[in-house]
Amino acid sequence: MIILKKGILIVFEGIDGAGKTTQAEILLRRLKKEKFNTVYFREPSKSKWGREIKKKAALLDSLTPEEELELFQKDRKENIERNLKPALKKKKVVILDRYYFSTIAYQGAKGIDPGSIQKMNKEFVIKPDLVFIFDIDAGKGLKRIENRKKRDMLFERKEYLIKVREIFQSFKGKEFIQVDATEPIDIISKKVERIVFNFLDKFIG
Ligand code: TYD
Repeated sequence: MIILKKGILIVFEGIDGAGKTTQAEILLRRLKKEKFNTVYFREPSKSKWGREIKKKAALLDSLTPEEELELFQKDRKENIERNLKPALKKKKVVILDRYYFSTIAYQGAKGIDPGSIQKMNKEFVIKPDLVFIFDIDAGKGLKRIENRKKRDMLFERKEYLIKVREIFQSFKGKEFIQVDATEPIDIISKKVERIVFNFLDKFIG
C-alpha cells in the first residue's frame, strides 16, 4: 500500500446527468489498482439525515428550500464527523460524490443566497484538495437520465438545473477543475486520472 503524507479529499460535483458518479467509480477502481488506500463517500449520505432527504425528495416539493438546506447541513456535519475525519486521519484518499458546493448550487438556485450558504459551510467543513466540476448543458444532462426520472418532472427541472449549472460554473480557485462532461467516458476518466495522479505524487512517502 502506498503511504501518503496526509489524507487527500477529492470532490466530484455537477448537475444531474453529468456523469460524476460514473467517473468517481472509475477513479476509485484506478486508485485501488495502483495501491492507494482509497475510500468513496457520497452526499446525501447513508446516515439518518441522508435517508430522510431521499425519502422526502420522493414526495415532490414537500420541503421548503430552507428545510432542504437544514437537512443537507445536518447530513454534512454527520458525514464529516463519521466518515471524512476518520478516513483523512488514516491518510486515505477520500473520493466524495457531492459536497457543500452542491448545496450552494442547488439550494442557491432555489433562492437562498449562495454567499450565505458558502459562509455557513466554511465554518465547519474540511477544505477539499481537488474539486472536479462536471459541466454539461441541463437539457443534455436530463436526457441521459430521462428513464431514471419521471418525464413530467423534466421541464420544470430543466429551468432549475440551468440555474444550478450557472452557480457550479462560477466557482473560482486553484482547487477547482471544470471538466467538459460531454466528452466520451474514457477520455474524461483519463484526464481526471492524470490530474489526480500528478497531485498525489507530491504527497507520496
Ligand atoms: P445524488 O444522490 O447525487 O443524485 P442521484 O439520486 O441521481 O444519484 O443527489 C441527489 C439530489 O440531491 C441531486 O439532485 C442533488 C441534490 N442535492 C442538493 O440539492 N443539495 C445538496 O447539498 C446535495 C449534496 C445534493
